[in-house]
Amino acid sequence: MTKLPLASFLAVLACLTPGCHAAAAPDPLAPTGRWSANTRGQAATPPMGWNSWNAFGAAVDETKLMASARLLVDSGLAAKGYRYVDIDDGWWLKRRMPDGRMLVRTANFPSATTADGGTSLRPLTDRLHAMGLKAGIYSDIGRNTCSQVFGGADAPNLPEGTQAERETGLYGHVEQDIALYFREWNFDLIKVDGCGIRGLGPDNPRVKAGLYRPLGPVIDFDDLPRTDIAEVRRLYGAVADALARTRPAGDYVLSLCLWGSADVRSWGKDIGNMSRTSEDISPTWARLLHNLDTTARRALYAHPGSWNDPDMLFIGKGEFDAAHMVEARSHLALWAMLNAPLLIGMDLRQATSDQIALLGWAQAIALNQDRAGNQAVLAYDSAEVQIYVKTLADGTKAVALLNRSAAPTHATLTAEHAKLTGTIATTDLWTGKTGSFTGETTVPLGPHETVLLKLVGRHRLANGLYLSEMPGSVNPAIDGVVQPQPDPLVHRGLLPWNDTRGTGEHPRYGGWGGAAVDTGPYGQQLQADHEKLDTGIGILAGSRMEVRNAGHARFTARVGVDDAAWGNSGAVTFLVYGDGRLLAQSAPLHAGHALVPLAADVHDVHLIELIARPENASVAPDPVVWGEAALLN
Ligand code: GLA
Repeated sequence: MTKLPLASFLAVLACLTPGCHAAAAPDPLAPTGRWSANTRGQAATPPMGWNSWNAFGAAVDETKLMASARLLVDSGLAAKGYRYVDIDDGWWLKRRMPDGRMLVRTANFPSATTADGGTSLRPLTDRLHAMGLKAGIYSDIGRNTCSQVFGGADAPNLPEGTQAERETGLYGHVEQDIALYFREWNFDLIKVDGCGIRGLGPDNPRVKAGLYRPLGPVIDFDDLPRTDIAEVRRLYGAVADALARTRPAGDYVLSLCLWGSADVRSWGKDIGNMSRTSEDISPTWARLLHNLDTTARRALYAHPGSWNDPDMLFIGKGEFDAAHMVEARSHLALWAMLNAPLLIGMDLRQATSDQIALLGWAQAIALNQDRAGNQAVLAYDSAEVQIYVKTLADGTKAVALLNRSAAPTHATLTAEHAKLTGTIATTDLWTGKTGSFTGETTVPLGPHETVLLKLVGRHRLANGLYLSEMPGSVNPAIDGVVQPQPDPLVHRGLLPWNDTRGTGEHPRYGGWGGAAVDTGPYGQQLQADHEKLDTGIGILAGSRMEVRNAGHARFTARVGVDDAAWGNSGAVTFLVYGDGRLLAQSAPLHAGHALVPLAADVHDVHLIELIARPENASVAPDPVVWGEAALLN
């Protein structure tokens, strides 16, 4: 197991200072003039479809899959955007020796039997494509897969044969498997799980018993410092490169499944089209809140082409079944607002007409698929009520008012939450009821209810947008986090079968300290020299953000070191670049200094870069404020 390469990181950081002349070390904060978050693959809006896992676990077969695929089409859900039909764990039989070709379990997928005695999923994908659908497949970045590592002895459809034949994951077979799945079998999406590099260290009982070869663990889920983050990134990067080579037209989706481990928060957006932020969802309200919380403060890490994934929908089961339609509606409304991929996880043969109607909720889908790609921002937060605000491409706002609790309550929505002013017209996107308010309005909320509103009004910023209204166009390319930390803000969602046994499930998502919208990187209100701000981007010193500019003329902000600073970074200089050219820069600013205005002409600039350059390298850099950062007409 490898520790973080801290020494080398500090050596590079030391070269951020003006006195450094070491020729060898590249300046990690140098402007690049290019957008670096992933744009490969096909996910300009969040992928939508159906996946077998929540419905069937590994007991997936062709009959079940095709029944739900047929119902997607017949119910009209496919026409509303649910196009991907994804096979999760359980489709394989073995890896054939000696050529290493993957074989399908034809007992469950009879159409995969070929005349030459081999197997092929091409007939299945051909059928899905002929129905206007797309096809997704599942693998693992290690040698072995999740049900092999974590499934019980009675787990269905485990790979069979010798130890080598049971190695069905991508490890050592990336080129071969990607070519098979995407060129020969013509799949459109792959979900790449990470169990094979997480759970099969030399101490694992299954490894000791000779069932599997040891590997790593490269990921230590309980111990972020003992995870080899660079190696995990390298392995997934190799898959992304193989996909780009195999499908040069870019018609594919790469789904990363690392559950928020390995600091995937900071790099998943550069490699994948969607990236899991938490462990598996289960059909309980507590778990929904947990998964929601791992994504809720990460709006700056989601963009067209790379989405946060709080896991698949569980509408249709447990606390989201037909007797819990309020919870089911909250589930869809929140996932829509967070730009989560919308992947149905139920056997559609069992769906009621109300469930089909909910899944087809056109107004919620429209929010999710809005082309601006702005994940909703958390505008108000408490254990009981949360208010999320999403800015749409046409400048209107969508608001979700969530009652997390099991008792009735109310939420007071203010114009400031939505960064609007004057008289604001409202439409309830579920009931269709319209109204209006000035200043604020109070909305009653039933237990676990989410009210979804569309707001139309004058923008608080009359002639432009705050960056916090356009997180889909802001990429924290380097967010300043030197030592990734588990995220203490993650709600402690207990796995239902554990009840209150043990010490509980502690927050682990490695997202603490990253760039944040309208708060500091550690969740505090933005503040410099005792002046509090309600809008801006909070990030650490030693950071570089990329901002896409679609026609605005001026960038303005008020910048400074946040009052929460320890002074570790020394003076911080704020620089604004446009397409690689220096446009504006502040004096070096120390903690305690008042915010300083910074402005730049960006009328012919496509990519703006915002750099906060510290005087001193530190493993605990100071938070800085890009206060009221905005693009103006
Ligand atoms: C992991 C993933 C799930 C599912 C299972 C399959 O737990 O997080 O989404 O794919 O593996 O075994």
